Formats: sequence, structure tokens, C-alpha cells
Amino acid sequence: MSISAESGQDWQRVLAPVAAEFSLDGRVVDAAPYGHGHINETYVLNCDGAGGRHRRYVLQKINHRVFRQVPALMENVQRVCTHLGRKSPRSLALVPTDDGGSVWRNGATGDWWRCYDFIEGAHTVDQVANEAQAREAARAFGEFQSQLADLPGGRLHETIPRFHHTRSRFEALRAAVVADECSRAGEVRDEIAFAFAREADTDVLLGLLARGEVDERVTHNDTKINNVMLDDATGRGIAVIDLDTVMPGLALYDFGELVRTAASSTVEDDPDSSRMRVQLPLFRALVAGYLETAGDVLNAAERAHLGFAGKMMALENGMRFLADYLQGDVYYRIRHPRHNLDRCRTQFALVRSIEQETRAMERIVQEVENRIGA
Ligand SMILES: Nc1ncnc2c1ncn2[C@@H]1O[C@H](COP(=O)(O)OP(=O)(O)O)[C@@H](O)[C@H]1O
Ligand SMILES: [Mg+2]
Repeated sequence: MSISAESGQDWQRVLAPVAAEFSLDGRVVDAAPYGHGHINETYVLNCDGAGGRHRRYVLQKINHRVFRQVPALMENVQRVCTHLGRKSPRSLALVPTDDGGSVWRNGATGDWWRCYDFIEGAHTVDQVANEAQAREAARAFGEFQSQLADLPGGRLHETIPRFHHTRSRFEALRAAVVADECSRAGEVRDEIAFAFAREADTDVLLGLLARGEVDERVTHNDTKINNVMLDDATGRGIAVIDLDTVMPGLALYDFGELVRTAASSTVEDDPDSSRMRVQLPLFRALVAGYLETAGDVLNAAERAHLGFAGKMMALENGMRFLADYLQGDVYYRIRHPRHNLDRCRTQFALVRSIEQETRAMERIVQEVENRIGA
């Protein structure tokens, strides 16, 4: 449902009954679609709080086609919010339903809704504009990692099983090549060969975990710049949002995804993959920010694989786009017939670029570590 083009009264019809389920401070006076999220439907609620104080909330309809296990997901979100709230005053905070729950289900439609306090005095950006921003995003995700190192209550639910299990992603690609349902394999022989040549890489991080050289941690799994709130006045990363994919995982998955999205030179679906490469100044900024806040919790093996992690996330995504292309574009939404192939090619170009820059990236990590004494 989108209410953006509808009359001002329609929010009342649609959102007011939903808002009424939550323990808001005051009366809802206005509501509107909000933000640029691609997954959930996000709205802002304006309320007249106690004593005429203006208060805002974020009301979200959870995309339960993407997220199949909403109660488990919300249990994860609630545990993480509660823990973060004890450590930082401006962290993401859930507004309880009237009966004390973290989520409300509309019995008539089956939709799930949740509500957050609006984080005031901060904003998100959709693209990294400069090194300072990259550093702040990495600081925020590093802080998130370090603050959750002592999350009580045992393992979080694995709401999307094998999300970053790169060996499984590789096997899925191999199966798609063998099946070749749409007779496209011939056309993408180079891309298939590129992925197959890197089969051994897909076991590296899993091997570290299996041998106990890195620990399983609480990870965010969607570490994009637009999931960090930046303070309006100072530009500082003050809170991590969008916790739908918090799960058990490796810190390297989160850092690798940061490298893939925040240190790359062009968009994921650039039709000219020759424009894609890793940008070393941005990589340096990410390393500096991440080690500043997570340096104390990361061990030597994790530090040694910061660059490799970026390559892994690019390879994993490239393999997924390639498999989807071979299967006839069934998973990712496409806007033109070769969209998944374009995406695959940019990701593989990023893999190649990181391979070429491996030494330089290792040097950067070392320099940053020496400088901050991490
Ligand atoms: N608690 C909040 N306070 C202020 N803005 C928020 C809050 N939660 C979300 N937003 C804004 O809404 C956008 C979409 O929310 P998000 O949870 O990231 O949804 P999606 O999963 O669709 O990306 C964010 O990028 C951010 O700009
Ligand atoms: Mg988001």
C-alpha cells in the first residue's frame, strides 16, 4: 500500500487504527510515507505529546514476503534494541504495543507492524559522499559489533539460514549451471569460469569459523550507509538502524559488506563494469572507523581478513546474481533483461580489483593498526 498519492484523510483510515495499537505519547495529528527504504513500508507519525510537546515516531509495515519468520525476527530485534539502549541513549528503540509486545499483527490482513521512536537530529544518506562519511558508517557498525559482544540470553535466531554460507551459494550456482534451465550458460561462460576459479575462496571464512580461529558474533548483515543515522550537526554516526537481518554471523561479513557497498567506485548495476573497482582511500576510512570502535573485540584472524572479506561479499553477490540470471531472473527484481548479468559483472570486477589491490589493502590495515595502536 502506498498512501503518498492519496488524500490527507487516508492516512487516518489506514494508519490511525495501526497507530492506536501502540503506546504513543499523545495523539496522532499527521502521518506520511518516509525514507528511501526498499524493503519495508516506512511512515512517520507526528504526535501531540504530553504538554503539547511534538513527538515523532516511525511506523513500519514489515515485508513478510521477504522476512518469513516475523516473530523470531522481532525477538532478535527486541533483544538487540534493549541491549543497545543500555549502552547508548540515541540507539534504535521500539515502542511497545498496548499489551507490551514488540509487534502488532493485523488479524484481517495478516500484516505485521512495529513502531520505533524517531531518532531526532540525525539523517541517513543513500550514497557515501566522502571518506569522513565512510569512516562514520564504519565506526557505527564497529560500535554495534562491540556493544553486542556481551549480549545476554544465548544465540539469536538464524532467521535466514545460511545467509552468508558462501559454500552453499557456490553449490547453488553450480546447480544452476548444470541445470541451465534457460539455456543461458553458453552466453556467460566467462562469468561461470570466473566464479569456478574461486571455489576455494568460498571456504576460507567458513574454515576460520570451523577451526575456532574466529568467533561467531551478533551481526547486522545489511551494513549499508543508509542504515546508519548521522548526527545533523556533527556528521557522527550515532545509531545503526534496520535490524531485520541481525543474526549470528561473522564480523567479517559485516565489514565485507561495508567494503562492497561503501568503498566501491560505482553502483551495483552499472552496465559498464569497467567502472567498478575498490577505492583505497575509502577502504582506509572504513578500516580506521571500524578498528576505532571494534578494534578491541576483533582478533588477529579477523583483522588479517578485512580486505578479503570485501572480496568475499562481492564474490557471493556476484554468484547469486549469476545464478539468478541462469535461472531466469526469479529472485531479484529486474528492470531490463540483462540486469542480473550487469550486477554480476560489476561484482566480479570488484573481486578482481580487490585481488589486484590485496597487498595495498593489507598495508593499509597495518598502517591504521600502527597508528591507533590497535
Ligand atoms: N527510528 C528512526 N528514526 C529516524 N529515521 C528512521 C528510523 N527508522 C528508519 N528511519 C528512516 O527510514 C528509512 C527506512 O528504514 P529502514 O528501517 O532502513 O527500512 P528498509 O528495511 O526498508 O531499508 C531509513 O533509511 C531512515 O532514513
Ligand atoms: Mg534500510
